[in-house]
Amino acid sequence: MDNKHIYCPNPYILAEIMPFGNVYPCSCGWIRGYSFGNIFEQSYDEIWNGERASEFRQKLYNNDFSLCPGCQNLEILQEIKDNSPKLKSPPPERILLGLDEFCDVKCIFCRGENYKIDTKLIPDDKKDKLLEILTPWLQNAKYVKTNAVGEVFASKISRDLIKNIADNFPNIKFEIITNGIQCTKENIEKLNLTNRISMITISLHAFTEKTYNQIVKGGNYKKVIENIKYLSTLKELGQIERFELHYTVTSINYKEIPDMINFARQLGAKIRFLGLDCSRDLEELYKRINIQDKNHPKYNDLVKIVHSKTFLESKDIVIQGWEYFTGLKPISFIEKFKKKFYNREITKY
Ligand SMILES: C[S@@+](CC[C@H](N)C(=O)[O-])C[C@H]1O[C@@H](n2cnc3c(N)ncnc32)[C@H](O)[C@@H]1O
Ligand code: SF4
Ligand code: SF4
Repeated sequence: MDNKHIYCPNPYILAEIMPFGNVYPCSCGWIRGYSFGNIFEQSYDEIWNGERASEFRQKLYNNDFSLCPGCQNLEILQEIKDNSPKLKSPPPERILLGLDEFCDVKCIFCRGENYKIDTKLIPDDKKDKLLEILTPWLQNAKYVKTNAVGEVFASKISRDLIKNIADNFPNIKFEIITNGIQCTKENIEKLNLTNRISMITISLHAFTEKTYNQIVKGGNYKKVIENIKYLSTLKELGQIERFELHYTVTSINYKEIPDMINFARQLGAKIRFLGLDCSRDLEELYKRINIQDKNHPKYNDLVKIVHSKTFLESKDIVIQGWEYFTGLKPISFIEKFKKKFYNREITKY
């Protein structure tokens, strides 16, 4: 690609520590599960500065993005002049934790009716040693984000781990992603997170209680709204830096998108509209609700909403995982890459 070197900071600053202890330098799906190693089987050095990490960094340095076919984060790529590839890295600044998948609800697109929690994600003999195993990973960390795969306030393992990290690493700030049901003042205090939250994201997925109940099975809409309002006051007081709502777009909730945009604005929150990830074993359901599919009977209705003034002119929305709707066709990573660096067209996707 000419003489330009494209630099992605993620393999130097980010470690996503996920179910079974696998470590990824970025979102697992974007890099097709390319893992640097496993925290339950290898040491920190073997993983973070081992062969697989070097191979990943070398490829990206060579402008070879074949390991990143699903990249959705082109904004973070930069052109650099440095000519020597750095294959080793100091400890990561950002840690994403998704070790325990326990949850207090079943969202239809995340877990089907018969979903069974896998209690073997963390080996029994490691459950009491999580802080010890994670300590080398945390030595340089500024931010810990959790929980990527379960519900932090519902899982005892996640709660204990976060409190331990908060107690032992006073400079670390937290990014919390939660369904919001148990995200109360008391629970935030119990985890020693008061004034330590740099970002909080509440997954809501609906403006009305009726629609919420169709999506979040076993949820509690009123409680979530109450907690969201409390968090909004913390944001106003400057005690939380970033406040976001997550909204996974489906045929069930798409009509409420404009109302959600207004609601988020009133709260001082950003709203992140997530595309439906259909990689789980819920084929029949996805066929029914995957409104991002051009063959879905409601696809054109969604396109109208996405091209409405409310949507296009809102500054507080982020679209993640459904680039289909900006150009109304899928844009491959390489195409997006070229556009960013050669035409500089795409700013939102
Ligand atoms: C897996 S959850 C974990 C954190 C927390 N329990 C929550 O719901 O926010 C993280 C995010 O993934 C979203 N999610 C789960 N399954 C999804 C799917 N199949 N497609 C798109 N988003 C999904 C959730 O709605 C949530 O916003
Ligand atoms: S290029 Fe994209 S997918 Fe690859 S590590 Fe960077 S942000 Fe992740
Ligand atoms: S609350 Fe989060 S982890 Fe729980 S089922 Fe919903 S999306 Fe999945």
